[in-house]
Amino acid sequence: QHARVSIDPAFVVAPVDRRVFGSFVEHMGRCVYTGIFEPGHPTADEDGLRGDVLDLVRELGVTTVRYPGGNFVSGYRWEDGVGPVEDRPTRLDPAWRTIETNAFGLDEFMGWARKAGIEPMMAMNLGTRGMQEAIDLLEYANHPSGTALSDARVAHGATEPHGIRMWCLGNEMDGPWQLGQKTAEEYGRLAAQTALAMRQFDADLQLVACGSSSRTMPTFGAWEATVLEHTYDVVDYISAHAYYQLHGDDYASFLACSVDMDRFVDQVVATADHVGARLQSDKKIDVSFDEWNVWYLEELKAGQGGLPEDWVEAPRTSEEAYTVVDAVVVGSLLITLLRHADRVTAASQAQLVNTISSIRTEPGGPAWRQSIFHPFAQTARHARGTVLDLRVDAPTLSTPVYGDVPLLDAVATHDAETGRVAVFVVNRHPSEPLSFSTALRGFGGGTLVEALVIADEDYAAANTQDDPDRVVPHEHPGARVDDGTLLAELPAASWSMFVLE
Ligand code: AHR
Repeated sequence: QHARVSIDPAFVVAPVDRRVFGSFVEHMGRCVYTGIFEPGHPTADEDGLRGDVLDLVRELGVTTVRYPGGNFVSGYRWEDGVGPVEDRPTRLDPAWRTIETNAFGLDEFMGWARKAGIEPMMAMNLGTRGMQEAIDLLEYANHPSGTALSDARVAHGATEPHGIRMWCLGNEMDGPWQLGQKTAEEYGRLAAQTALAMRQFDADLQLVACGSSSRTMPTFGAWEATVLEHTYDVVDYISAHAYYQLHGDDYASFLACSVDMDRFVDQVVATADHVGARLQSDKKIDVSFDEWNVWYLEELKAGQGGLPEDWVEAPRTSEEAYTVVDAVVVGSLLITLLRHADRVTAASQAQLVNTISSIRTEPGGPAWRQSIFHPFAQTARHARGTVLDLRVDAPTLSTPVYGDVPLLDAVATHDAETGRVAVFVVNRHPSEPLSFSTALRGFGGGTLVEALVIADEDYAAANTQDDPDRVVPHEHPGARVDDGTLLAELPAASWSMFVLE
């Protein structure tokens, strides 16, 4: 079978917003404790931050990091995590049934963010708390000095204001599992009031209202409409969350799951634009896809994911060992996010370290790259400039969950400064290769500078502590440019990247 793609630099979707390469650090499992923070680890610095993890975070190319949750944030008192460590209270975290020591909090996170070179995206608790605590947190974090809260931050050692621009107004407030779950009306009003109050402090903040926790929520669509009716003028983004996994041996549906993400984005954008029309507004609301990944959630719910029965500190929760096929799916989800560059202008892969993560660590031991690290790192490095509007002519594949889907998933970017074009493609067929050609119209020379593929005959192949490079990108065998056309053979269930100039 053959798939043909046409690319032209004149057909542009939108600039690549670097915020699409965001990630997420939640106080969940070992993401924070023995993940990014482990005093006494051989690579830890004077602040207890693991140097081996910081190196991998930089290599991954993460641009923003959402913090501190997640479900965790909906019961969190941010004040517990600031000030002298010995005075901080130990609390129960009901979201993940853990003991939270509060040894790591806002100021430590901001120190880590500076060292990692990432932009923070701060989530606030609108579950058990409200507007007052939100504006207190904003004042503590961002006001220079001269008030009780800002002076407290200075006294805690953070002399400069943190200058956090992007804030999430709660987390998954539609979910029955969420502390303080609300109806769309209740949440919409609270989010609007909180956003207005925050803007009285700083009109230029970028604010994210909670959208649906998944496209399968019974309130999906209606939730976005009601929340945006309340918040349209005072927020910039509506969030979306989606997790996918392999069910049984239905590889065809799993490899096609970005179709669901695609429909999700289209429907949220349509709903937001509908509200905009009703409000006679010219403003556009963007989508912050601030939780997405492969997550074996069914196993967690069935008690196999390490959710502790007793209250313990930093348990091994959802420490997925991602396979090569998971990596292909992550590559495909990134393709979808980029294809929607005109409206998806922020995204966070959930999560960064140990829990549902790209990076794994052992306490006192090594850190390593999971299979899903690689498509993320390559895409973050090479998807630059503008996203191009492709014409894809591909055969279809019949899948049990998503019906007939195109066999090829594709996106391309063009960096006018360097003249480079990067093409990212996935062959969704679980067992057959796909030949692929791209006519490079209007790009001049068309020299192939890099061609990589992620694929493996063993679909269960995964990176482990003992074999950390079992799944890595390989050079694409046989990829070439012939007379202005890029040609390659895409293995079954594979992700590929071609960089041309
Ligand atoms: O990322 C893991 C969890 O998934 C988050 O805490 C929550 O927001 C979502 O349900």
